[in-house]
Amino acid sequence: MNILLLGSGGREHALAWKMAASPLADRLICAPGNAGIAREAECVALDITDHAAVLAFCRANQIDFVVVGPETPLCAGIVDDLEAAGIKAFGPSRAAARLEGSKGFTKDLCRANGIPTAAYRRFNAVEPAKAYVREQRTPIVVKADGLAAGKGVIVAQTVAAAEAAIDTMFAGGLGEAGAEIVIEEFLQGEEASFFALCDGDTALELSTAQDHKRACDGDQGPNTGGMGASSPAPNIDPAMSARVMADIIQPTLRAMKAMGAPFKGVLYAGLMITDAGPKLIEYNVRFGDPECQVLMLRLMSDLIPALLASRDGQLKSFDLRWYPQAALTVVMAAKGYPGSYARGSVIEGLEDAAAIEGVEIFHAGTKTEGGKILANGGRVLNVCALGDSVRQAQARAYEAVARIRWSGGFYRRDIGRRAVERGK
Ligand code: AMP
Ligand code: GLY
Repeated sequence: MNILLLGSGGREHALAWKMAASPLADRLICAPGNAGIAREAECVALDITDHAAVLAFCRANQIDFVVVGPETPLCAGIVDDLEAAGIKAFGPSRAAARLEGSKGFTKDLCRANGIPTAAYRRFNAVEPAKAYVREQRTPIVVKADGLAAGKGVIVAQTVAAAEAAIDTMFAGGLGEAGAEIVIEEFLQGEEASFFALCDGDTALELSTAQDHKRACDGDQGPNTGGMGASSPAPNIDPAMSARVMADIIQPTLRAMKAMGAPFKGVLYAGLMITDAGPKLIEYNVRFGDPECQVLMLRLMSDLIPALLASRDGQLKSFDLRWYPQAALTVVMAAKGYPGSYARGSVIEGLEDAAAIEGVEIFHAGTKTEGGKILANGGRVLNVCALGDSVRQAQARAYEAVARIRWSGGFYRRDIGRRAVERGK
């Protein structure tokens, strides 16, 4: 079949790498892609925010199936538009993508269905929000309702910091995303990312990972899209997985179906594992980036039939097989990220690095120019490795990182620390 993958990050490189290995993929095209994806798929310069252009491209190229990587097109309804035109697409409808597109929507859904999450209130004006904050304990968390590319969450240590966050959001600091806010209780615990593949009725547990969101070692510095991940998450055992499925994922699926917005696609629960059990921090409606990279390394089964079964409502008796090994990825980012950074610096040594056993390098913001690989974004490379333990995967990934010559980049040196400390 002819498959079109939408996106250009490390997540999409991992998805392209996995799908390219499938006998089902006759032709794999990626829009817009990057220098690494170009080794797995034909990359086309298509503006994926222009749904009419995407539809026209699909028709002209006999595309049978579209796989959507990032959240923005999902929340903009690209799956609805493709399906309405008779083109099969993987991912949630616009209505179902509200699980990521509106934090207030998700919090209300949790409340109505007894799904464990932080206590909260929604606000659309400054004064009531500030009055509420003054009645609560600190730290307290202030969140923009809409999509804010990871910049919409402020964990405020003081009332003054929370008030400043409220002012910034309502002053339009995050555009439309901050027109409404959620203020919620600060949860104490250890985070984990939990992934389930859904077909509207059935949820198939994928696997888990632990992301490292802060820019600097020791979880210091600003929040980012993610600076590295390991899989499986060290704090989710089978009993905890079963609890997350029963208390969080399944009731969400039932509630979405009951409101006429059945959820299809990847449901990614950002969890806090607290003393009182797992609590939902937020939902995302797609694979995580960089979590996808470690999941794809560990997935033994063909990905394409699973994505088709999600779209077709056929997951009920579906089974996926996983390698028993652990995986880890170190993100190499441009100096300055998540703030402003330069583009265009040369990256060398990638082949040498990829030659290490178990290592796979997925590109994010890269491009090719004159036969050279150049940095072309904030997060630039994902240096990934499989290993018999997280510790071995970590050693291999860092050995590969050491072989990469890129003066414009930086990376965290402690990815996987929590898992390794637990003997994983
Ligand atoms: P989100 O974008 O909602 O995943 O939030 C970004 C990060 O903020 C999360 O990964 C957590 O580290 C932190 N965070 C969000 N909500 C809470 C909360 N209620 N309690 C503690 N930390 C939180
Ligand atoms: N790594 C976090 C995310 O994909 O949202």
